[in-house]
Amino acid sequence: MAMNLELHPNFKRYADRCSYIVGSDIGRIREEVKQKKAAGEDVIDFSSGDIEEFLTHKLVRKAISDSVNDINNGYQPIAGRQDLREQMSEFLQETEGLKISPKYIHFTNGAIQALDLICFTTVNPGSEVIFPDPYWGPAVDHVRAHGGIPVFVPLDRNFQLDLEKIEKAITERTIAIYLNTPGNNPAGSVYKKEALEQLADICINDGIIQIYDEAYRDLVYEPVEIFNPATYDEILQTSFIVRSFSKSHSTTGLRAGYFFTKNETWLKPLRERLLLESSGLSWLTQSILSKILPSREIVEDNFKMYKEKRDIGIELLPRINGFELVNPTAGFYFFPKYNNIPESLQGNERGDYIYNRLFNLNPRIVGIPGYSFGNNSTDYIRFAFSVCKKNDLWKAIEVMGKEFGYS
Ligand SMILES: Cc1ncc(COP(=O)(O)O)c(C=O)c1O
Repeated sequence: MAMNLELHPNFKRYADRCSYIVGSDIGRIREEVKQKKAAGEDVIDFSSGDIEEFLTHKLVRKAISDSVNDINNGYQPIAGRQDLREQMSEFLQETEGLKISPKYIHFTNGAIQALDLICFTTVNPGSEVIFPDPYWGPAVDHVRAHGGIPVFVPLDRNFQLDLEKIEKAITERTIAIYLNTPGNNPAGSVYKKEALEQLADICINDGIIQIYDEAYRDLVYEPVEIFNPATYDEILQTSFIVRSFSKSHSTTGLRAGYFFTKNETWLKPLRERLLLESSGLSWLTQSILSKILPSREIVEDNFKMYKEKRDIGIELLPRINGFELVNPTAGFYFFPKYNNIPESLQGNERGDYIYNRLFNLNPRIVGIPGYSFGNNSTDYIRFAFSVCKKNDLWKAIEVMGKEFGYS
């Protein structure tokens, strides 16, 4: 074979669509944390919405070891085993009174895959998708990857929807709105029921698909009224509900989520895409899911663990000079604003200022700068309290208190 050292130009480029993806700072920062830790540095990691190292609920462990004896190592039905989808359908009926036939339920490799399938199925190049801002970046990148255009509409000061602004943002090209509630990542807000009801009316009238991302549905810490879009048939026929086991069951590495819609038009392309992407879920994941699905104990124990950490943070973080916090009602992030950033700094420099001040402490404290969640959040920083141990949370607050002082 003739070796030509000069590579053909085809080997030095990629498809145009690859450049549509902006990417996330979270991955980059998570890598930096790993490197620092490997180099023996003392780091308190609040970067990604992951789970604590080595944390796995005892019932999940049992389901994993029991599944190893349950071998069914062939190709699986694309949307998930029939018995698993029936189990989920019954579970939704028992726990939420929903009537969702198994044919509408699709298991996916995490909620993130569901979002890709949904965008593949509904977003054309040039289609606009509305994102309340601040937002979770990967959802936006899914839209971009399919040639869609994200349109950002700021949430209000309490991270609630502003319907007037949303209505103004709707154009003839608007195809969908992404609604990450309860527990918006990064802010932890639960969008108000009345606002979501009104919004649903607008969307159904105007032909706008609602993409509900309910990854944090089981982690709501306050007795607020939670809108359940799946109880409305009109919404089910025109929208998607995406859910995940990653957060509620603390199984981010298992890669298990699901979504449902009752819109018959979308079912075929959704399944075809799911086949092309991954041929559904591995048999092992499905076997584990069928064992953990009925257990409320896993979710309740995880909920308690996250709530404890959340309560420490909402009590103490706002006492540190300069930090202002809207308490997260759900999810597992603190998203405080830092009020003492020098005025001379602009745009992302503002986020870098607070990020670097924390990163240069001893131990290093690592959050994600607010600009990663939209241009309106440059003065904010996100701390994922899921990934750090409770003692580390105490320690981080103490170290920050010493650095910034208490108010
Ligand atoms: C809002 C939101 N949706 C979806 C996901 C992805 O969840 P999964 O692990 O199920 O893919 C995340 C993960 O951080 C998230 O924050």
